[in-house]
Amino acid sequence: MRLSEKTAIVTGAGSGFGAGIARKFAAEGARVMCADIDAASAQAMADEIGGVACTVDVGDGTSVNAMAEAARAAFGDIDILVNNAGITHLPTPMEDVSEEEFDRVLRINAKSVYLTARALVPGMKNRGTGAILNIASTAGVSPRPRLNWYNASKGWMITATQAMAVELAPFGVRVNALNPVAGETPLLKSFMGEDTPEVRAKFLSTIPLGRFSTPEDMGNAASFLCSEEASMITGVALEVDGGRCI
Ligand SMILES: NC(=O)c1ccc[n+]([C@@H]2O[C@H](COP(=O)([O-])OP(=O)(O)OC[C@H]3O[C@@H](n4cnc5c(N)ncnc54)[C@H](O)[C@@H]3O)[C@@H](O)[C@H]2O)c1
Repeated sequence: MRLSEKTAIVTGAGSGFGAGIARKFAAEGARVMCADIDAASAQAMADEIGGVACTVDVGDGTSVNAMAEAARAAFGDIDILVNNAGITHLPTPMEDVSEEEFDRVLRINAKSVYLTARALVPGMKNRGTGAILNIASTAGVSPRPRLNWYNASKGWMITATQAMAVELAPFGVRVNALNPVAGETPLLKSFMGEDTPEVRAKFLSTIPLGRFSTPEDMGNAASFLCSEEASMITGVALEVDGGRCI
């Protein structure tokens, strides 16, 4: 029980990696708020793991503040924050991504990290403890063509992780990131453009361990980085990528 007595908020917990992280956190003893823009999936996950559901738009400051307030009302102090909710545009030449789509990706993948920090970092600083985990991507390290602005949003997230880590270290707050490789979640189809055996084979050929990542892989890595076992680790972006970035 790595996370017993801990409280956690996981954004985007209704699906994919966020669901895997929420499940693992609960199995390790944490009390988990499952936060998602999709109210039904947030509730279903909270029911499954005995957590608390919250409907949130992570790109909206008022909504994020309400999530933080609801978490404090349910749990008291918040020990762990996982910024997992994220989206992509479809594979597109960079000059053809619309301004609306660009803003949408940056709002949900980047601005959300600022908004949740604004809402939750003061409490962590006051208590002198906390763990924040940003779900970035191998896309931020080794970008694939045509996922251009999504790649850049994840590079932003990795730099934000380092900036937060160095600034918050004196307050006992650790900040890390995970860089997943393509994973078996509903988002995978959007990365591939079309889900055909040929496109799958092309993606898999770039992963030395020969398989896509899974929500369980992310749950395992996340529970380690957010636990006391990782108390000397801050500012890393850990690749969970089957060797893709070698
Ligand atoms: N699946 C992959 O191949 C892959 C690879 C690398 C990184 N990632 C990253 O992992 C994270 C999770 O992705 P996933 O594959 O599990 O995707 P997913 O689509 O399965 O789940 C994302 C969840 O986020 C929620 N969400 C979307 N917009 C939201 C918003 N504005 N506010 C709150 N919740 C919102 C969705 O409702 C959904 O439940 C993302 O940040 C993604 O960029 C995914």
